Amino acid sequence: MNYGPLLFLGILFTLASSWFGLVVMPNQQLGSLQPNMDTNTGVVFPQPLPGEAAQGRELYRSLGCNYCHTQQVRREGFGSDIARGWGKRGSVARDYIYDRPVFLGSSRTGPDLTNIGERQPSYEWHYSHLYNPQTTSKGSIMPPYAFLFELRRVGPDGPSTNAVKLGGEFAPEPGWEVHPKPEAKQLVEYLRSLRSSVALPEAPLPKLE
Ligand code: HEC
Repeated sequence: MNYGPLLFLGILFTLASSWFGLVVMPNQQLGSLQPNMDTNTGVVFPQPLPGEAAQGRELYRSLGCNYCHTQQVRREGFGSDIARGWGKRGSVARDYIYDRPVFLGSSRTGPDLTNIGERQPSYEWHYSHLYNPQTTSKGSIMPPYAFLFELRRVGPDGPSTNAVKLGGEFAPEPGWEVHPKPEAKQLVEYLRSLRSSVALPEAPLPKLE
């Protein structure tokens, strides 16, 4: 007997059902997600990134930050992410609707960065940390990104307020100062834009005690 047609139908059915289950159904459930507007406060979340932060996102991608950092907070009961202070609520699909690609990440060599803009809003801290992570986090295994900075001579009016404040062994030679290049500013704008403490209908914030 010729089993060819039966085999063909069997394979077709297997492939069609997995395509339906893995592509069509998720697209129906999640494909048309829109930002949420809080009717009490008028706050719309999530928002597309403004210019500099969007450029910083491309740098985050090209520098491979997501090899060591995730951007996904597991909800209560699925891990200790919230207890560690990485976010007030778990991440949901709607958080990522403007992200192309999504930096979920798979390895947590460093802390999760979903909410880093809230945890660490200081430009000064980020500049110092990116220039050399040892300045803020002694013993860190994060690589330095000093190439995002440039050395400039101290001007006739004295040290610039824009220079990165570096003390001790990290200070440049006398007469020189370290300035963030535009790329460093963009990357820090991106990091500062990462904030997730906005309630969504499917992911409310925990009630204050
Ligand atoms: C080799 C792994 C590795 C890479 C690559 C890496 N990091 Fe890190 N990162 C770490 C580790 C480990 C820490 C924790 C110690 C510290 O603060 O430096 C950290 C900490 C941080 C923190 C502070 C987090 C907190 O909760 O205080 C920020 C912000 C950060 N990294 C941003 C970046 C950015 C931006 C890039 C890409 C330019 C990057 N990291 C690349 C390993 C990495």
